[in-house]
Amino acid sequence: MKGILLAGGSGSRLYPLTKTISKQLLPVYDKPMIYYPLSTLMHFEIRDILIISTPNDTPNIEKLLGNGEQLGMKISYKIQPQPRGIAQAFTIGEQFIGDNNVCLILGDNIFHMDTEFADFQSAVKKNQNNRATIFAYQVSDPERFGVVEFDKNNRAISIEEKPAKPKSNFASVGLYFYPSDVVQYARDLKPSARGEYEITDLNNIYLRQGRMSVVPMHRGNVWLDAGTPNSLMDSGNFVQMIEARQGIKIACIEEIAFARGFIDATQMARLIDKAPRGQYRTYLERVLNEKQR
Ligand code: DAU
Repeated sequence: MKGILLAGGSGSRLYPLTKTISKQLLPVYDKPMIYYPLSTLMHFEIRDILIISTPNDTPNIEKLLGNGEQLGMKISYKIQPQPRGIAQAFTIGEQFIGDNNVCLILGDNIFHMDTEFADFQSAVKKNQNNRATIFAYQVSDPERFGVVEFDKNNRAISIEEKPAKPKSNFASVGLYFYPSDVVQYARDLKPSARGEYEITDLNNIYLRQGRMSVVPMHRGNVWLDAGTPNSLMDSGNFVQMIEARQGIKIACIEEIAFARGFIDATQMARLIDKAPRGQYRTYLERVLNEKQR
C-alpha cells in the first residue's frame, strides 16, 4: 500500500495566514499541521509516501521532512502546478502508484483514534485489490463536506459534494483507500461546475459500480478538518487539551516511527541529538528512556 498526502491548495479560507506560509505548515498547537495526516499514514504502516503540494510550498515541506529516511520511511515529492482538485492527486501520482493499492489523505485532516485504526485496517484489508474504502463521520455542519446518504440497511447510496440540503449528517472524511485502477478513473474525470476534479465524483464511480465501502467512524473517535480559522483554532485547542491532560503527544512522528519499529533506539537517539533543547526534545528523550527501561 502506498500513501499520497495532498498538501497543496490555495489556502484561501485561511488568508492572510496563508499569504506567505503553506496551510499545512501552520501550527496546530505544537506541531506543523502536516505532522497529523503524516502520523495517520504511519499508524496504517504506510511508509512509502508521495507528498503533493504547490510550486512555492513543496521546497519548505521538503525542508521539514526530507526524504523520510530519518523516520525509516521513504518520502518523495511532486508538484501540483495549480489547485485543480483533489482527484488530480492520482494523475500526478500515476507513476508512484503503479500497480499498488493507494491511500490518499488530505493535508488538513486530523484523526485522533485509538483501537479504531485496527478496525480501519481490517475494513481496508477486506477490500484490498478490487474495492475502495472511505470513512464517514457525523458532523453538525455537513454542508461543508462531501455528504454520504445511507439506506435503511446502512449501505451508502450517494455522496454529494457540499450540498445545500444535506441528505445526512455524515461527512466523507479526507482519508480514502483505492485499488490501483483509481488512476484510470481519475484520468477520465471531467472538471465540476467549480472547475475542480472532484474526489466525490471519483467516489461515486466506485459507488455506482458496487465497489465502494463507506464505513461510519465510531462516535468516540475524533476527526477534525483544520482548514478554516475556527476549525484550525479548535484543532489546536483539542490537541493542547489532550496533551496537557495525558502528558503524551498526538502525532509525534518520531515517537510513532520508534514505537512501530520503523527506527531503532540508535536512530531515535540521533534524532534527539539533532533537535534543539526544548519541550519537544525533552519529550523525545522521555519516550526513548521509557522504552529502554
Ligand atoms: O476534509 C474532508 C473534505 O475534503 C471532504 O468531505 C470533501 O468531500 C472534499 O472535497 C474535501 O473538501 P474541502 O472543501 O475541505 O477541500 P479543500 O479544497 O479544502 O482541500 C482539502 C485539502 O486538499 C487541502 O489541504 C488542500 C488540498 N488540495 C485541495 C485542492 C482542491 C490540494 O492540495 N490541491 C487541490 O487542488
